[in-house]
Amino acid sequence: MDLILVRPHFHPHVALVQLNRPKELNALNLQLMAQLRETLKQLDADEEVRAIVITGNERAFAAGADIKEMAGKSAIDMFLIDQFATWDQIRKTRKPLIAAVSGFALGGGCELAMTCDMIIASETAVFGQPEIKLGIMPGAGGTQRLTRAIGKAKAMEMVLTGKHLPALEAERYGLVNKVVPVDLYLDEAMRLADEIAAMSPVAVRLAKESVNRAFETDLDEGLHFERKNFYLSFASEDQQEGMQAFIEKRPPHFQGK
Ligand code: HXC
Repeated sequence: MDLILVRPHFHPHVALVQLNRPKELNALNLQLMAQLRETLKQLDADEEVRAIVITGNERAFAAGADIKEMAGKSAIDMFLIDQFATWDQIRKTRKPLIAAVSGFALGGGCELAMTCDMIIASETAVFGQPEIKLGIMPGAGGTQRLTRAIGKAKAMEMVLTGKHLPALEAERYGLVNKVVPVDLYLDEAMRLADEIAAMSPVAVRLAKESVNRAFETDLDEGLHFERKNFYLSFASEDQQEGMQAFIEKRPPHFQGK
């Protein structure tokens, strides 16, 4: 299997998806991406799951799209394969996605991490868009998401030179939520997922949609969208439970309704 799905016992509302092509540094071939798309679709529909962590292994989150698979392709082959339809489906996952990154997150690997909502990195993580060295350029969102995350000057330098960005710098520029020692990055990602999973799944979904809208629209339209989702959150039982629990000085128990 190119992908391993785990439902860890001590994290009842979190699913862990592990990219599993270690010999190829988790190079993202079409089969792996299709498996990832289907797994995320299934987890998105599973009421028990409230947050999803995507990880690789200590050496590599993913070293990019599979160069050996792409090498002989023509522009029309790439157009007809239409792999970005798969990436679009992954992007549309409604539950929070956390990337737990150690080692290489390059090319499509960096783009996959950035497609997630948050990134927890080990001290050994390196991010990069080295496509330029292959005579191509990023195609799965690298020029757009990296620029939004770290700003034009740094993104331009990375995309035009293929230069790597080490974990601590990535944290400083706001690409990464937190950097932790290598033996802790997965635990830290699971901890963050647990924290989110304890919130109202309805409110989490509405809030994720609203934050994402900030990247897709102007302020007026974004505020309008936020307001509608805010009003909608008052239609949930979780809103009543959350506020009642506060008043009664007890922890809330959110049902996702
Ligand atoms: C296919 C890959 C691969 C990749 C590594 N491997 N990256 N195979 N596609 N992207 C394979 C190597 O061929 C090798 O297998 C094995 O993994 C170990 O890699 P090494 O190079 O021997 O390891 P190392 O010397 O430690 O170097 C690690 C590395 C280097 C710096 C990450 O592998 C590298 O530069 N990889 C390519 C990174 C890259 O250019 N990514 C962007 C791809 S384009 P064998 O069997 O040969 O020993 C892209 C476009 C996205 O992502 C577009 C949208 C989807």
